[in-house]
Amino acid sequence: MTTFTKTADDETPVISIDAHKRISRINPNIYSGFTEHMGRCIYGGIYDPGNPLSDENGFRKDVIEALKELNIPVVRYPGGNFCATYHWTDGIGPKEERPARPELAWLGTETNQFGTNEFLKWCEILGTEPYFCLNFGTGTLDEALAWVEYCNGTSDTYYANLRRKYGREKPYNVKYWALGNETWGPWQVEQMTKEAYAHKAYQWAKALKLLDPSLILILCGQDGTSSWDYYTLKSCLLPLNSPLSTSAVPLIDMHSIHLYTSSSSHLKNVTAPLAAERAIEITSSLIDLAMIENRVPPTQLRPTICFDEWNVWDPIRAEGSKGAEESYTLSDALAVAVFLNVFIRKSKDLGMACIAQSVNVISPLMTSKDGITKQTTWWPLLLFSKYMRGWTIGAHVSCSTYEGPTSPEWVRFAKETPWLDVSASIGDDGYANAAIVNIRDDNDIDAKLEGPSGLVSVFTISAGSVSATNMKGKQEVSIKESTWDATGKYLFPRHSLTLLRWRV
Ligand code: AHR
Repeated sequence: MTTFTKTADDETPVISIDAHKRISRINPNIYSGFTEHMGRCIYGGIYDPGNPLSDENGFRKDVIEALKELNIPVVRYPGGNFCATYHWTDGIGPKEERPARPELAWLGTETNQFGTNEFLKWCEILGTEPYFCLNFGTGTLDEALAWVEYCNGTSDTYYANLRRKYGREKPYNVKYWALGNETWGPWQVEQMTKEAYAHKAYQWAKALKLLDPSLILILCGQDGTSSWDYYTLKSCLLPLNSPLSTSAVPLIDMHSIHLYTSSSSHLKNVTAPLAAERAIEITSSLIDLAMIENRVPPTQLRPTICFDEWNVWDPIRAEGSKGAEESYTLSDALAVAVFLNVFIRKSKDLGMACIAQSVNVISPLMTSKDGITKQTTWWPLLLFSKYMRGWTIGAHVSCSTYEGPTSPEWVRFAKETPWLDVSASIGDDGYANAAIVNIRDDNDIDAKLEGPSGLVSVFTISAGSVSATNMKGKQEVSIKESTWDATGKYLFPRHSLTLLRWRV
């Protein structure tokens, strides 16, 4: 948690970090990813048979090696909007017998050459856990139950045996399952009202937990600030003894929210992710409100928030049906750093966060036929995933603020927008870490630091201008390493992310 005091422009900014004030555990799942059958994410991204860079499964080895660096705990699949017309049985069995189908989310053709077994094998090679999203559009509950049975079944039953027939004896034990994706959206096949969704989600959850009570089920929220979020939570977070529930275990484990931000104006771009912070706060309150109103006892599991799509994305600049390939700038990398600061500050409420997406589609990692490019946004993700783990610790920032317009506009009244955006953590290795984004594009900021001591390792991400990029043959943004002796003030360069790391 980071608290904030607004000061005058001419006062010296102060950042105080108390490594002994452990606020909450950081769930490692906040560094999760997302791969959708969309654009070149799967085909040409993680799966590229025949390419010399691919292994015998057709998996791109360079992509796997790169993603391993990010130490990704969970990857969501197969969408996204794609889920709403996806029949998982099309993607299993002999490849030559798999049907090609029209795909209605992104208006392409789905060849089904990559499906459940391929994805689960890819996850095992990457060392990550799968998270499946169920088809709440054209899919049925029977199909959803069959998918769980296929993946996790241990008995002598039809779909468990089908998995065995297709070469996999051991169950995959897929733990995370989403009850649909963005079912509120007008772009969604079988868009639903909140009433229709809540009814269906609850009934599906009941059946899924009868089949496997250990599943972690994720309710489809909106952006965390809507009446959809309130209504679905209110309808589905019920006490175990509710007349609507015969379940021995709580049916809903997490509530999903999504947010994409972007602006061509740097200061709007880097303050936009603060909307995620307010959304987490509001969702957390809605969870409490639903539990209070429904008289859920305190002994029953309180769901966490699953921020399972977040990133910088302008869908006009990088259209979904054209593959949504963004060319990220330094400004975007700093926006990603602010998102990650938010996730560290709000670790108490977050059970998972998935950057959307992991390869090519609005992604920090791009492929071509002969290699990969790490976009500007790769570098803050790498730094955070490497160091910002363990516990969120107490920090206080005193500085002046950006006072201009924000996007979304409501950030202006709902959040303060300090020039220095800060989060801090302590790892189980005894090292404290502070991530500081100087969002200013005009001035460096000389700040007094309280807390860091000894020889401090410094990692800086910056460049000559906020429009610096790693695309179009350029490599302008990466991490620079140095040290600081923790004396005097520290000069945070304009438009930069600085990660300070010291032994406590
Ligand atoms: O990540 C791209 C798309 O954005 C996803 O398919 C959808 O859930 C969201 O609208």
